[in-house]
Amino acid sequence: MNRIYIFTGKGGVGKSSVAAAHAIKSAGEGKRTLLVSADMAHNLGDIFEKRLGKEPETVMHNLDLYEIDPEYIMQEDFSAVMRYLSNLLLDADESSVQGIGMIPGMEEIFSLLKIADIYHKECYERIIVDCAPTGETLSLLKFPELLSWYMEKFFPIGKVGVRLLAPISKAAFQVEMPNKTAMNDIEKIFLKLVELQELLKNRDITSIRIVAIPEKMVVEETKRSYMYLNLYNFNVDGLYINRILPADIDNDFFDSWLMIQKEYVTCLKESFSAMPIYEIPWYEEELKGEKAIRRIVENVLDGREVLDGKVITERECFKQSGDGYQLEVFLPYAEKENIGLYQASTDIVIKTGNFKRNIPLPNLLRSYMVAGAKFEDEKLCIRFEKGSGENE
Ligand SMILES: Nc1ncnc2c1ncn2[C@@H]1O[C@H](COP(=O)(O)OP(=O)(O)OP(=O)(O)O)[C@@H](O)[C@H]1O
Ligand SMILES: [Mg+2]
Repeated sequence: MNRIYIFTGKGGVGKSSVAAAHAIKSAGEGKRTLLVSADMAHNLGDIFEKRLGKEPETVMHNLDLYEIDPEYIMQEDFSAVMRYLSNLLLDADESSVQGIGMIPGMEEIFSLLKIADIYHKECYERIIVDCAPTGETLSLLKFPELLSWYMEKFFPIGKVGVRLLAPISKAAFQVEMPNKTAMNDIEKIFLKLVELQELLKNRDITSIRIVAIPEKMVVEETKRSYMYLNLYNFNVDGLYINRILPADIDNDFFDSWLMIQKEYVTCLKESFSAMPIYEIPWYEEELKGEKAIRRIVENVLDGREVLDGKVITERECFKQSGDGYQLEVFLPYAEKENIGLYQASTDIVIKTGNFKRNIPLPNLLRSYMVAGAKFEDEKLCIRFEKGSGENE
């Protein structure tokens, strides 16, 4: 199956360099590869020392580079969708206009829709996505879910009956996709967003890789973003610790830096023990040009199956349990006292820290109530029972 790899991490930690190294390795393995930048501050052209245009360009055998310009693809590829959306806003009553208008980053959705389109065209076996720093990536990734949630709230699309559910839950509730020809335009856009989320959350297709450096601030943010990515049920299946100083530096200046790095490398290894971890040395020069990037390929990636998509098992699911159902959500590093939970008519809402997610309930569960919840072994288990119940 063709795959998508999304590289994320705090600003300046080496996301673009590491993503580029994977692209070179992938092309070298004979796989048709696209390295695409979804960061507005593109720098793939700089890394490969090549001026890039508005469409993908071949830089070496099996490797194309592409810096997405959302404005351009909005006009070229999605003008119909844009037209629907503006009609929809004109037709909608005031409350819906406010609802949609409140959502930030509306344009960014087009970068993701474009990546999904490229994936479905099957021109590439591997699509490697270089992202903007963590905060922006997280909002980018959760945006399709947020937008479809708003649409479902404000427009009469309930009859479409599609709700985003993890594949296991989908099978359990026998959810079927609706017939596209019978749908109206709003329903079609809604379905496109649901399909986009499914693509990004499909563990057989999409991998999220986090890049970090061994320093306190970065380690903390890395753990936080791992938790949020899990809150949204994304498949994080690799960690890169970049800029590791060589242990044999003969210079007192680095003594305490070596200690600091050692401490945080250990900390990252403990925190991410569930997945493959790659350690990348700090090189004596900037990583500019294909030759420099190849150093990461040769020193770290070669001989390891970094692109074979080790699937980490499903982390979020609804299960039948006794007379009721149970929703399990994996929340690594969450603290029990900071988890909030409440039930809205069609969703269950989980809050952790200042992040919140509305998880859609399968239609069948709408007549069920939350009967209790517990947080154990980094897993939040929510029990649903028929009729009335009380939240714990
Ligand atoms: N292991 C390394 N050794 C030496 N220089 C490195 C290493 N990793 C990255 N760099 C350099 O650090 C700078 C930042 O790297 P890069 O652009 O890959 O980070 P980024 O996470 O993509 O940044 P941004 O958040 O701005 O997109 C670049 O100049 C790059 O060449
Ligand atoms: Mg970058």
